[in-house]
Amino acid sequence: MMSDYCWFEGIPLPAIGVSKEIVEDIRNKFVVKEDDLIILTYPKSGTNWLVEIVSLIQTKGDPKWIQSVPIWDRSPWLETNRGYPFLIHKEGPRLITSHLPIHIFPKSLFSSKAKAIYLIRNPRDILISGYFFWGKTNLVKNPESLGTYFEWFFKGNVPFGSWFEHIRGWLSMRKWDNFLVLYYEDMQKDVKGTIKKICDFLGKKLEPDELDLVLKYSSFQAMKENKMSNFSIIDKNVITNGLNLLRKGTTGDWKNHFTVAQAEVFDKVFQEKMAGFPPGMFPWE
Ligand code: A3P
Repeated sequence: MMSDYCWFEGIPLPAIGVSKEIVEDIRNKFVVKEDDLIILTYPKSGTNWLVEIVSLIQTKGDPKWIQSVPIWDRSPWLETNRGYPFLIHKEGPRLITSHLPIHIFPKSLFSSKAKAIYLIRNPRDILISGYFFWGKTNLVKNPESLGTYFEWFFKGNVPFGSWFEHIRGWLSMRKWDNFLVLYYEDMQKDVKGTIKKICDFLGKKLEPDELDLVLKYSSFQAMKENKMSNFSIIDKNVITNGLNLLRKGTTGDWKNHFTVAQAEVFDKVFQEKMAGFPPGMFPWE
């Protein structure tokens, strides 16, 4: 089945489970609390991996919670019809996930001391990950080919709009004390180091054996086998057969799919749209 988006001020949002009224409400009325931890990403950046790691840090590596509660209830998606009321009534400290661009995010964040982590991934890999993921859902308009999706990606005609604007918007917060920027590529290179970095940011200390448990239970294979985290129990109205959240979990898969011409176009657009950021801002460039 093909669905169009739920459009909000020119931003395409998933067609199921999100409504304009709720998003407007969230922006103006949702109260971010000081002890909230907010996980912010553009979709397909490794959001669920980060939620799994943070969940396990909270339990000091004990897997009971991640193996008994669905990932979307541990860290609800703020912008969804299910997540929003759930979060309003949830006792703190709350874990909150969101893909919203900065200009739609609750205004209360900007005067709060809540902590937020923004995870970034090479947009080329995001494009490929998104192409294979969204096509297996009824949440969005499905492209008939990768070439079509490639064009939509540049136009921001994909879920949550333009990657470039999302990144530029949220990176304006990068100097804030309570804002940590992480990269999927660094997580892949040194996941233990990334977990320690998150612990430092959260003021948590893990013993070496606890750290090893976090590592073990958040691995690609462990998540693939955990039905509370691999999306296999997601509502059947939302997905079609073959949805695979834990698809490859690698960096650079785009090289297996882009044509030489597409890679060149991507480089050019990236340079133009991301001009002005300091060298080294994006580890894959
Ligand atoms: P691929 O489609 O490239 O495999 P999100 O959670 O934001 O939807 O991102 C999904 C992407 O994160 C998928 O990328 C998925 O495989 C990857 N991912 C999820 N858990 C992971 C893990 N434990 N280790 C590495 N990558 C992971």
